[in-house]
Amino acid sequence: MLKGSKVGLRARHEDDIPVLRAELYDDVVNSARSEGRPWRPMTPGSEDSRLVVDDREQGHVPFSVVELDGGTLVGTAVLSNIDNHNRSAHIGLGLLPASRGKGYGTDVVAVLCHYGFVVRGLQRLQIETLSDNAAMLRSAERNGFVREGVLRSSAWVMGEFLDEVLLGLLVRDWKPDAKG
Ligand SMILES: CC(C)(COP(=O)(O)OP(=O)(O)OC[C@H]1O[C@@H](n2cnc3c(N)ncnc32)[C@H](O)[C@@H]1OP(=O)(O)O)[C@@H](O)C(=O)NCCC(=O)NCCS
Repeated sequence: MLKGSKVGLRARHEDDIPVLRAELYDDVVNSARSEGRPWRPMTPGSEDSRLVVDDREQGHVPFSVVELDGGTLVGTAVLSNIDNHNRSAHIGLGLLPASRGKGYGTDVVAVLCHYGFVVRGLQRLQIETLSDNAAMLRSAERNGFVREGVLRSSAWVMGEFLDEVLLGLLVRDWKPDAKG
């Protein structure tokens, strides 16, 4: 398990799946805001790639996020689009509603940076998020990500086009313990 100061990132367990489905993916608005594709219901027992991990997929590393204190499941995190030529990847995360606003998101981003830069030897990490997602923007910026641009009207979300912000962090600018 990869450990931050409050949360750990571990493998997806079978009994995480119903909790994540009910609390994260069955929330139509949250899914529409996070996924970049239309919400559709997820059948119990289906092999949906958002929940069920395929270890053969080398470029996509999903984690379940747990509290270090007690091991309770609090969300998901992923390093995706891993490009070993350009040594870059994207990061993503989603916390269960009751676990938001407690500093976990900032900690998850820190652990994903450690995984990307130290474990995987990458040199660039990237995040795209809706421009009104203050908690995600702040979680990224506290870890040193900088805003590199705005993708105007790039996301169709529940009846309207919204802007996305593109943020990037280079390993040379990464300060592992700084949460500015
Ligand atoms: C986005 C998300 C991962 C952030 O994680 P979090 O644990 O809620 O965020 P944190 O508690 O670490 O807060 C980070 C910062 O944002 C601020 N913040 C938290 N919630 C906020 C909100 N609703 N509005 C404005 N600021 C907020 C915090 O005060 C903190 O700022 P600080 O460091 O200056 O104190 C989480 O809220 C979430 O899973 N949301 C739903 C899914 C989602 O949006 N995923 C990202 C898709 S790209």
